[in-house]
Amino acid sequence: MSNPATAPLLRVENLNKSYGKGVGSRHRVQILRDVSFELRRGQTLGLVGESGSGKSTTAACVMGLTGVDSGLIEFDGVNLTALSKPEMRRMRKRIQMVFQDPNGSLDPRFTVADLVEEPLIIHGVTDAAERARRVAQVLDRVGITVKQAQRFPFAFSGGQRQRIAIARALVLNPDLVVLDEPVSALDVSIQAQVLNLLSDLQDELGLTYLFIVHDLAVARLMSHNIAVMNAGRIVEAGTSADVFDNTSHPYTRALLDAVPGARRRAASLAAAAPALATEGK
Ligand SMILES: Nc1ncnc2c1ncn2[C@@H]1O[C@H](COP(=O)(O)OP(=O)(O)OP(=O)(O)O)[C@@H](O)[C@H]1O
Ligand SMILES: [Mg+2]
Repeated sequence: MSNPATAPLLRVENLNKSYGKGVGSRHRVQILRDVSFELRRGQTLGLVGESGSGKSTTAACVMGLTGVDSGLIEFDGVNLTALSKPEMRRMRKRIQMVFQDPNGSLDPRFTVADLVEEPLIIHGVTDAAERARRVAQVLDRVGITVKQAQRFPFAFSGGQRQRIAIARALVLNPDLVVLDEPVSALDVSIQAQVLNLLSDLQDELGLTYLFIVHDLAVARLMSHNIAVMNAGRIVEAGTSADVFDNTSHPYTRALLDAVPGARRRAASLAAAAPALATEGK
């Protein structure tokens, strides 16, 4: 038996994934090629890379939203690719996701309180008082009052909507949260607030983050470790400091140099998010 204290919470090994080229076509396009990484409990792995490199596809595989061709996705010692649908459903309680666009993930026909309560209902928390207590607690934690939560999503700003999406992801007390570009749709000042919130929540709740982001400044700030994807492969990996500062990672350097002001932006984001900067994440 592996030791749960030191074993990775998530281990992906030689993950391969292709899609059919079109209905009825026998041609397949290879999207992920032998993707491997490990993620330790309470830590953040930043998954960076150009648009189309396969970051969201990796997330979809981890979430069980799409099948894999081959490879291992081990969560807390369990191979997710071998689970039946009901088993995966139970496991999914412990793995939650936050998407880039909270508008897409928050159904506008429901109040915020209902939206945050929904995962509890889906996962069988039958006691209404218990549900109300947990909803109030998680909303309070992300800075939304119970009174505000009686309103519909359109009544909130982009930053608030993302806080609501985070509350919805956290209400089931997950272990792993997959964050797919969670701040890229937000203004820079709001980005820093949401990043601070995510960082505080990680410390308080011991959350583990798979943090997908194309903004290298954000990746540097938030991640303990970094994996860099290019054309479906992990081409560079290591600690955040190692990957961003070490000259032995030429692809990452090229990425940094390709984004005008990326290095300066890293410094200004760190200044806007002091709690993060002092932790040296
Ligand atoms: N359902 C699908 N069917 C066919 N091809 C797909 C499908 N989903 C994604 N792809 C292709 O897989 C490749 C990787 O896409 P993916 O969304 O994983 O990239 P990404 O790194 O998340 O990019 P971005 O930074 O733009 O979000 C792209 O070429 C995309 O067109
Ligand atoms: Mg994506």
